[in-house]
Amino acid sequence: MASLTKTYSKEKLTGQIFTPAFIVNKILDDIGFVGPDILGKKIIDPACGDGRFLEKIVARIIQFSPKEDLARNLRFVYGWDIDEVAVKEAIARLNRLIKPFDIRVKWKITVTHSLHQANAARDLFSGHKPVEKFDFIVGNPPYIRIQHLDANERKFIQNHFRFCQSGSTDIYIAFYELALNLLKKNGRAGYITPNTFFHTDTAKNLRRHFETRQNLIQITNYGHIQLFDDATTYSAIVIFDREKRDKFLYQQAIDKTTFKKRFVDFTEIKGQKFWQLSINRRKPIKGRRLGDLARIHVGITTLADKIYMMRFIEKDGDYLWLQSKHHGAIKIEREVLKPIIKASIIKSPDEPIREFVLFPYKKVGGRHQIIPEDELKKKYPMAYAYLRQVKPLLDKRDNGRPNPVAWYAFGRTQGLDTTFGEKILFSPMNKEPNFILSRNKEATFYSGYCIKYDGDYEYLLKQLNSERMKEYIQITARDFRGGWKAYNKKIVQEFLIT
Ligand SMILES: C[S@@+](CC[C@H](N)C(=O)[O-])C[C@H]1O[C@@H](n2cnc3c(N)ncnc32)[C@H](O)[C@@H]1O
Repeated sequence: MASLTKTYSKEKLTGQIFTPAFIVNKILDDIGFVGPDILGKKIIDPACGDGRFLEKIVARIIQFSPKEDLARNLRFVYGWDIDEVAVKEAIARLNRLIKPFDIRVKWKITVTHSLHQANAARDLFSGHKPVEKFDFIVGNPPYIRIQHLDANERKFIQNHFRFCQSGSTDIYIAFYELALNLLKKNGRAGYITPNTFFHTDTAKNLRRHFETRQNLIQITNYGHIQLFDDATTYSAIVIFDREKRDKFLYQQAIDKTTFKKRFVDFTEIKGQKFWQLSINRRKPIKGRRLGDLARIHVGITTLADKIYMMRFIEKDGDYLWLQSKHHGAIKIEREVLKPIIKASIIKSPDEPIREFVLFPYKKVGGRHQIIPEDELKKKYPMAYAYLRQVKPLLDKRDNGRPNPVAWYAFGRTQGLDTTFGEKILFSPMNKEPNFILSRNKEATFYSGYCIKYDGDYEYLLKQLNSERMKEYIQITARDFRGGWKAYNKKIVQEFLIT
């Protein structure tokens, strides 16, 4: 849960993650920075850090350059980074490489805020002559969510980078725009970045760019395969230029070095809500969006589940004995309790419901409203006494902001009405489709989503739990470590029901 006191590591604030050599070499190979033709070509890493890319670039130039031209040929190598210490390390690294040649190179590796460069953002210095253009651009740009940047920087990026105008974007998206603006007409770029831009709303403008310009050359998707030692990221290498073509090569990593491949026609991704990249060409399916046939709702959110959710022990007349994590065994009026299912762990429709939620709401005109405090005290004294005891903990929710509904109300109002009745439940994360029908109309749920449908639930379930759904999620949804996939509302509602 986000909190005001959270501190962020240097990696998070500057996006410092260092790229392994096999990835650097793959990117250099994939952009064609190979063979003697690389001599005299301008190449830049605009987020060079301590020089992981620059080192391999220089090594390749050393391999092909005549010794007498080496110092001159190395002047075509550029590196920018905002971090002074990293830039010093990069220069030292390159100096070690040229030591045997007894030359001095005045490196073009500088402490630079790359996004503030003239012509980084086209509209920023319009009318100015572009400063430098490059034959090759490579790198592992910083990944920093825009909300972790200071307000001025955030505004600057949103105002000047077309790709960053929607919502809470990430700085790596701006680095794509930077590369497109710094590339020569026949230049080529290769980045390793998160693969989240395949589907996030905030990367829509970047996707639209590639879809309409058709200037992707190759995408290598590593999915859940982890490439970096100190950070969990789901990565893709993207190779692009400024030329239009019909197809690009899609590579799906099986492990760090083996790939399944297929050419993808740009018509397959054009105008789609998000990219569904797959090594199998998908047959077009005729059907209706789940979101048009059914309603998807999120579960209730108390912001204090350990207080409100309790395990059933036994029935005692009009009361239930329950196990509270805070209080041990307690007795509470049955009328103010609802059976509740944790959607993220349910495995089968036949599992008995063992948990109850203290639900201080009553129906008024068909909708749940908070029970006024006096009424709660009078009608449900046991429940009220328990809530009074845990009040200090409830008051700490939401960083201590008072709850506008009541101090004993749930942390959020979502799901108070929509979570009851027959429904199909699903977890926000799963390895395989796991949609479970819950027939218990009195039961509510938390930690997941439900689908409400007016037609035949069994018919819908078959499609939701099908191989087709599995494949759809595989190629559309966000990755998590260990092969887990995100099943979020935005993606599930686009699934086609036939
Ligand atoms: C993911 S690291 C990659 C470093 C190096 N290219 C590598 O692959 O090992 C990203 C780098 O971007 C730098 N950086 C962050 N914001 C920047 C900015 N606005 N301009 C230039 N560099 C920036 C960080 O200091 C960091 O070294």
